[in-house]
Amino acid sequence: MSSSLVTVAYIGAIILFILSLGGLSNPETSRRGNLYGIIGMAIAVLATILGPRVVQAGLPWIIGAMVVGAAIGFYAARVVKMTQMPELVALMHSLVGLAAVLVGFASYIDTSTVLSGAEKIIHEVEVYVGILIGAVTFSGSLIAFGKLSGKIGGKPLMLPARHWLNLGILLVVIWYGREFIHAADTQAGMLPLLVMTVLALLFGIHMVMAIGGADMPVVVSMLNSYSGWAAAATGFMLSNDLLIVVGALVGSSGAILSYIMCNAMNRNFISVIAGGFGSGSGAPAAASGASAEPAGEVVPVSAQETAELLKEAKSVIIVPGYGMAVAQAQHTVFEITRHLREQGVKVRFGIHPVAGRMPGHMNVLLAEAKVPYDIVLEMEEINEDFGDTDVAMVIGANDIVNPAAQEDPASPIAGMPVLEVWHAKTSIVMKRSMASGYAGVDNPLFYKENNRMLFGDAKKMLDEVLVALKS
Ligand code: TAP
Repeated sequence: MSSSLVTVAYIGAIILFILSLGGLSNPETSRRGNLYGIIGMAIAVLATILGPRVVQAGLPWIIGAMVVGAAIGFYAARVVKMTQMPELVALMHSLVGLAAVLVGFASYIDTSTVLSGAEKIIHEVEVYVGILIGAVTFSGSLIAFGKLSGKIGGKPLMLPARHWLNLGILLVVIWYGREFIHAADTQAGMLPLLVMTVLALLFGIHMVMAIGGADMPVVVSMLNSYSGWAAAATGFMLSNDLLIVVGALVGSSGAILSYIMCNAMNRNFISVIAGGFGSGSGAPAAASGASAEPAGEVVPVSAQETAELLKEAKSVIIVPGYGMAVAQAQHTVFEITRHLREQGVKVRFGIHPVAGRMPGHMNVLLAEAKVPYDIVLEMEEINEDFGDTDVAMVIGANDIVNPAAQEDPASPIAGMPVLEVWHAKTSIVMKRSMASGYAGVDNPLFYKENNRMLFGDAKKMLDEVLVALKS
């Protein structure tokens, strides 16, 4: 393949990636967006391996590596549970970071092209910055993987003088950067490069360890953004325009998503990075199984009573959360929705931006169960309507419906906008126990007079509700 044909293929791939991002911004067009992304990536990979920069003798190695990689990816995609997606994504981000580090070292050691003057300095800056971003992404993503999978506690690590420590690391990295650029030869430059890599790895660990469980949504999108910049840095090192553009697209869309997440949680991006939020009781309940102290009386109801309340209702808002994903209850939720709508009940869904464990988690599940998009509304579109609603049915959600965010300034989630289900005539919370949610804080909603608790696995209880509704 000639280099001009490769350029044309790259431009086509870039257009497809942009269309893909556009498509993914809306549930109705997301499948098409995904398809554009797949085609774009196939074109990009083919154009790269068939292009003039790949030596033909190396092709069997590349194809062998691709077959192994594809087999691992295929297996992981088949066995991963929907609830494990965020940690899988974090693990994948770490691989992008690792690739940037390895490409950085390889392109520094590579002596096939001799550069001099400004060109040499630019290349060395690319290598240094690329390895720096890659190493932070790699170790930060591994820690995020540990936290999301519950292998590492969600409590933020608050080292004394941690901001000074970070500043110190930054200054040392800049100083070694100067040493690296002024190094007489590759051998002399290796020491500053290695020291910086170790410091960047430690910084990535420290940065994510300092972030509390409640801020993990922002961390996931932030590391997504970093992985994009790491890919762009790799593109600079390899002089590959496609990688630069795609990296920048991922980097900037990840940054926009982090901003949206911060808004959704009423958090300032800098204070998230500075860490410490969610330090209340800390560890994610889902991971630690910790339950909050009882703070009042709750009123339990049966599936039969829940069905009665739903039968009498004219309007219902369903608020799904992480527990719906765990129980895989979305299909029964759809059946209940269909039945109620056939009976003339107005049913809508209220989706919190950080419901579940990854951006768009609930939308994906509801789309999979074929819930019509037009009754699935964002938090700000529906929050005003709870006052005119007969039943608010909370399915496996906790933090996103916690009134403490508004009522208790001392709460670790104070200020986070939440779905105000307690304004409905009756709210029904479906969960297995009194355990707290991801942020590890007690939920005063459970003790409100108009709230009922339907204890049990969401799928099992909803199946019973559906039978009772139809009887
Ligand atoms: P959570 O606050 O985690 O609450 C989920 C509830 O579901 C738990 O209290 C649990 O109670 C219940 N549950 C678990 N398995 C269940 C099952 N099989 N059947 C019925 N209930 C079940 O979830 P949420 O309200 O969706 O809020 C999301 C939280 O995750 C926020 O704190 C958010 O910051 C955080 N987070 C979000 C993301 C993104 S990007 N969305 C990423 C990381 C973290 P029981 O154990 O008593 O059943």
